Amino acid sequence: MDFPWAEPYRIKTVESIRRISREERERIIVEAKYNLFNIRAEDVYIDLLTDSGTGAMSSAQWAEMMLGDESYAGASSYYKLKDAVREILGFDYFLPTHQGRAAENVLFSALIGVGTEGAGKVVPGNAHFDTTKGHIEFRKARAIDCTTAQALDPVSDYPFKGNVDLEKLESVFKGHPRSQVPLCMLTVTCNSSGGQPVSMANVREVSALCRAYEVPLFIDAARFAENSYFIKKREDGYAEKNIREIAREMFSYADGCTMSSKKDGLVNIGGLLCFRDEALLREAIPFNIMYEGYNTYGGMAGRDLGALSVGLRESTEFDYLESRIGQVARLGASLEGYGVPVLRPYGGHAIFVDACRFLPRVPREEFVAQTLGVEAYVEGGVRCVEVGTMLADRDPVTRENRYPCLELLRLAVPRRTYTDGHMAYVAAVIGSVYERRDRITHGYRITREAPIMRHFTVELEPAD
Ligand code: F0G
Repeated sequence: MDFPWAEPYRIKTVESIRRISREERERIIVEAKYNLFNIRAEDVYIDLLTDSGTGAMSSAQWAEMMLGDESYAGASSYYKLKDAVREILGFDYFLPTHQGRAAENVLFSALIGVGTEGAGKVVPGNAHFDTTKGHIEFRKARAIDCTTAQALDPVSDYPFKGNVDLEKLESVFKGHPRSQVPLCMLTVTCNSSGGQPVSMANVREVSALCRAYEVPLFIDAARFAENSYFIKKREDGYAEKNIREIAREMFSYADGCTMSSKKDGLVNIGGLLCFRDEALLREAIPFNIMYEGYNTYGGMAGRDLGALSVGLRESTEFDYLESRIGQVARLGASLEGYGVPVLRPYGGHAIFVDACRFLPRVPREEFVAQTLGVEAYVEGGVRCVEVGTMLADRDPVTRENRYPCLELLRLAVPRRTYTDGHMAYVAAVIGSVYERRDRITHGYRITREAPIMRHFTVELEPAD
């Protein structure tokens, strides 16, 4: 007999959440200028804004917090993390940073340069995350997206939509002198293309191409464990390997990685910058000390280093991943049950709703996915995030809006935080908006925006 699936943990501490009335939410969204980042978390019922830093720590991690060594240099917590980084990621050298984007800042300062030293340089990869692109463009360099065209078809079930198109990558290498390509960046899973995985074969091939052109390959490892799970489930030859073996093989093809440990590190704050080669570490150290802190703490408290050392091990346990990625998939299936168009296959950390198919009457220049995000909040207090024209921002040269191929609303699921009951509620809320979709014909126009990464602080008003 097959028994039903159940979580590989039980709950020891609970945190109350409450659902305010629709009238209150209608008032709050106006006050927030229709920007979901401006809403107080306590006015949100189910918060799917991000899976970053929002997960629940285990009792073993909390115990490690109490053992945190807060020494400025050489803390024992640092050495615990060093052991975990070597064991799970396979890198001998690393610098702790306060989060993922800080690791990007330190790495790019060393490899691309500071100020405008990046002018003329390019960083190819698969759909760079927005802070990654921000740090590249801030240095006047250019992020070139070489993601496979398969990623653009929202209904295809292609299993590795995070893959790099090798021809596109090679044409970048051929079109620029080596000095203009300081690194290649491979994001696993690829958040910006829908939480989609990169296959081991693709990592291997990208690595070989980078070696041939002498370009260092760095992995953005925020969701490396989830990527490893997909490789195990979907790629020939990996079904019998465990998650850690798969992760170590994946990293063995790279010269280093940046990591936001707020995702698969299972902690609330922290980041890592890892290197295979000591010479690169030495180049990065001065920037880490200037921006983050001394090499053995780099912007993290000792207790946070300790919790991360435990989190890296827990996130690479198969049962945990099966439960986590299974929950995201069950949310996807419930949404599809209501007829809601979602990106296929389901992502590892999130379900992405295809906003243009959901709200075909809202013009693209009125921010379709943002409009849907506002509706989801007003309908049931569910907070999601726009991954569309708002996030894509303006072209740095022409200052025109960039319209990405897909206009998505991301429902990111925090790790070990919500139950399937919460997910059923979320699906019903989005399903209810879907029922009245024909009456949503207008979106929003911008009244104030920042010159870079505008989505965080943008202010809007209804366009009709
Ligand atoms: N890389 C990827 C793939 C990310 O998803 C993120 C953050 C970062 C880098 C930056 O890390 O936040 O620790 O500085 N993603 C969050 C999200 C914010 O909601 O997807 P950070």
